Amino acid sequence: ADNRRESLMIVSGYAAKFFHESLLDTDEGQSIGLSYFKERGFSTETIKKFELGYSPDQWEAFTGQAIKEGYQPEFLVESGLSVKRDNGNLYDRYRGRVMFPIHSFTGRVIAFGGRTLKTDKNVPKYVNSPESEIYHKSSVLYGLYFAKKSIREDDNCYLVEGYADVISVHQAGIENVVASSGTSLTSEQIRLIGRLTKNITILYDGDAAGIKASLRGLDMILEEGLNVKVVLFPDGHDPDSYVRLVGTSAFKKHIEDNKKDFILYKTNLLLKEAGNDPIRKAEVIRDIVESIAKIPDSIKASVFIKECSHILQIDERALLSELNKMRQAKA
Ligand code: UTP
Ligand code: MN
Ligand code: MN
Ligand code: MN
Ligand code: MN
Repeated sequence: ADNRRESLMIVSGYAAKFFHESLLDTDEGQSIGLSYFKERGFSTETIKKFELGYSPDQWEAFTGQAIKEGYQPEFLVESGLSVKRDNGNLYDRYRGRVMFPIHSFTGRVIAFGGRTLKTDKNVPKYVNSPESEIYHKSSVLYGLYFAKKSIREDDNCYLVEGYADVISVHQAGIENVVASSGTSLTSEQIRLIGRLTKNITILYDGDAAGIKASLRGLDMILEEGLNVKVVLFPDGHDPDSYVRLVGTSAFKKHIEDNKKDFILYKTNLLLKEAGNDPIRKAEVIRDIVESIAKIPDSIKASVFIKECSHILQIDERALLSELNKMRQAKA
């Protein structure tokens, strides 16, 4: 089994090199892929660091070359790089896409995300590697290999939604940034971060989906016993587009000026939705206390109850008794 895993990592590493060279050294790669990345503001240094690539717009460019070099069809298929036709022939999964290799914690390539360059709504924007013996997407964070040192040093991890967000923010000099890429955040991913720092700052897209995802993420992070803050970006922006719009120092200032602890974030958000309806307001309060009940450390939880009572102008004892009820119901 270890041999199989090693074979899969070797073929993935080979593919990363193939796509990277096709980006930098072929006419098609340069004129289509490289110019796309340059337009997005990715520097050559960044492109090399993250081993970004381009998959030629042909059916068998990669598969054919890999077979010629002796890579076994079994591993090409299991890694998801090649797809098997009914007649047994293989073709390339990634065609005419810019390629983002996904690295393991120790820096080996274990999967890919490939972005289309078409604007056709019927084409999926990203095609990601399927699950394999070396790629369990629920326990991988995009960018973690490049971020881990800086996460420890800064004692904080920025969590973004996408590949491009990781790369742009990293290029801007904020290197402690990862993405859950292709799935919603999982508790395994949070525990991975938890080995490096207890502090997570969520930087999700400023759209409805991003806000919804941030609320789900908040509770999971609290349950894992980590501290979490949230920064919102103007609607329509994600960290990548925003850092390119305003530049590094204004981006950092935006984070400092706008980061809210989860109580403040969640309360503001939910209260805005509830308006003046007292019944909905009561639901909001219960919802917030429910989040607080997820915090394993009871001293920390009581500090948040106090904050909550301030923000909502509700008697602290009422909140505490609600908290205790929820705790008992859980136990
Ligand atoms: P977004 O739609 O926000 O894309 O999805 P993005 O990262 O900002 O991409 P650009 O800037 O248009 O290039 C966020 C993340 O969700 C996953 C990808 O990991 C993406 O980076 N995703 C999105 C998919 O896996 N498949 C999709 O079709 C779309
Ligand atoms: Mn496994
Ligand atoms: Mn989005
Ligand atoms: Mn984006
Ligand atoms: Mn986005």
